[in-house]
Amino acid sequence: MVETIEWTDRGVVMIDQTRLPRETVYVTCRDYKEVAEAIRGMVIRGAPAIGVAAAMGVAIGIQKGEASLDTICDTLAATRPTAVNLFWAIDRMKTLARSLSSRPVEQQRALLIEEARRIKIEDVAICRAIGANGASLVPDGKVVLTHCNAGALATAGYGTALGVIRAAVESGKKIAVFADETRPFLQGARLTAWELQQDGIETSLITDNMAGHFLKSGRIGCVVVGADRIARNGDVANKIGTYSVAVLAKENNVPFYVAAPISTLDLTLSSGDEIPIEQRAAAEVTHVFGVPVAPEGIAVENPAFDVTPFRYVTAIITEKGVARAPYEESLTRLAS
Ligand code: MRU
Repeated sequence: MVETIEWTDRGVVMIDQTRLPRETVYVTCRDYKEVAEAIRGMVIRGAPAIGVAAAMGVAIGIQKGEASLDTICDTLAATRPTAVNLFWAIDRMKTLARSLSSRPVEQQRALLIEEARRIKIEDVAICRAIGANGASLVPDGKVVLTHCNAGALATAGYGTALGVIRAAVESGKKIAVFADETRPFLQGARLTAWELQQDGIETSLITDNMAGHFLKSGRIGCVVVGADRIARNGDVANKIGTYSVAVLAKENNVPFYVAAPISTLDLTLSSGDEIPIEQRAAAEVTHVFGVPVAPEGIAVENPAFDVTPFRYVTAIITEKGVARAPYEESLTRLAS
């Protein structure tokens, strides 16, 4: 499995996800602004992974004494609006930094670096626990459909949705995966298909508009996706196109599972209507790898995420257990 992000003496090293699968290139962010740019530019992406990146961004900003804690945190928080893990990680670092303010500067720096590294290590353990909790839900001998990338690349390692798939395979289940290509940014084609291929897990890439056809075919045993933010009522924000898959799964009586860490829960929001949805550049829709596929000047909508209402979600798999409806009750219990 690839190393998504790493703290080193040279800086924060990340695999450049904009270059995959054609090239495996690592970039080194030497200050907090470069970390912020890497998050904004999708060099690193996926809710838990950008949380880890932001934590390391705070640590490197403080280590270099580049700006005030608030400036560093505000810059990192302004990169992407939807995945709540980003804000969760920044808050955790900020709270620690404030609690250390009376300590010598060198000690503050060392402890913040240690905390950022701990967030990364914890994330891998959390993904493994999500996998262990979800593996039994995956039907043996069937295909698992997934959307976007919720794998090692979207986390500090192992993955959430792909963690469930990996754990099911490790438990001896004979499963295959269908990966939606995930237009417009193609995380499914570029990242999920690549990751699963590296692991030797039988995987077929399908275009997004094929999902309904296969869900109706009876070949798909369940859908497992990740999440960027989950509201108190169980509404799930995830990559654009997730909602369509969920509706099609319900129509065809296929269980729809969401795999996510507790840090993806936003219990301050009563429903998914309150989740901010990132709008991205028109060029992602009008162009594919720089080649125009639409008439010049055409109006474009490009929301990066959608919200799946809780009634389509069969269960939410977390590191602390599996939540089922009514979600307000089950999620609050798991988060406490
Ligand atoms: O825009 P991205 O690539 O950051 O979106 C990623 C997703 O939507 C993932 O499915 C989600 O973050 C879950 S990651 C474990």
